[in-house]
Amino acid sequence: MEQTLSIIKPDAVKKGVIGKIIDRFESNNLRIAAIKKIQLTQCDAQSFYAIHKDRPFFKDLVEFMISGPVVVMVLEGQNAVAKNRELMGATNPKEAATGTIRADFADSIDANAVHGSDSLENAKNEIAFFFGTREIC
Ligand code: CMP
Repeated sequence: MEQTLSIIKPDAVKKGVIGKIIDRFESNNLRIAAIKKIQLTQCDAQSFYAIHKDRPFFKDLVEFMISGPVVVMVLEGQNAVAKNRELMGATNPKEAATGTIRADFADSIDANAVHGSDSLENAKNEIAFFFGTREIC
């Protein structure tokens, strides 16, 4: 069993597709082990995406991520990291395979509906960023 972090980003929350996105996970054997809807601060977004701090899109990414509430979740299942990334589709929705979350709900590479951890090691760090041990069950 693996755990991974998923974020439903402000664009998808505003569109009212939280339930539709969660259904993709639950229908594909990814259990919601923890979930909360929160408003990120600028510091939260800067720290969470610190790995991208030197990239040209960093400022826009931070502004976008604090533009409204997000839903953060711990997904649990076999090969959860890879499974979640497969369900999300490519970062750029224009390149995302048909039937993926980003193909169906995302508008642009910035407003791309969801985030998912890209490795097991990053998943552990990202989960610890948002959740205490007692919140995950
Ligand atoms: P995410 O998986 O949340 O990780 C970093 C985010 O930066 C990414 O999704 C995109 O929404 C955003 N982003 C904007 N431009 C780029 C880019 N050129 N390459 C990668 N990510 C980008």
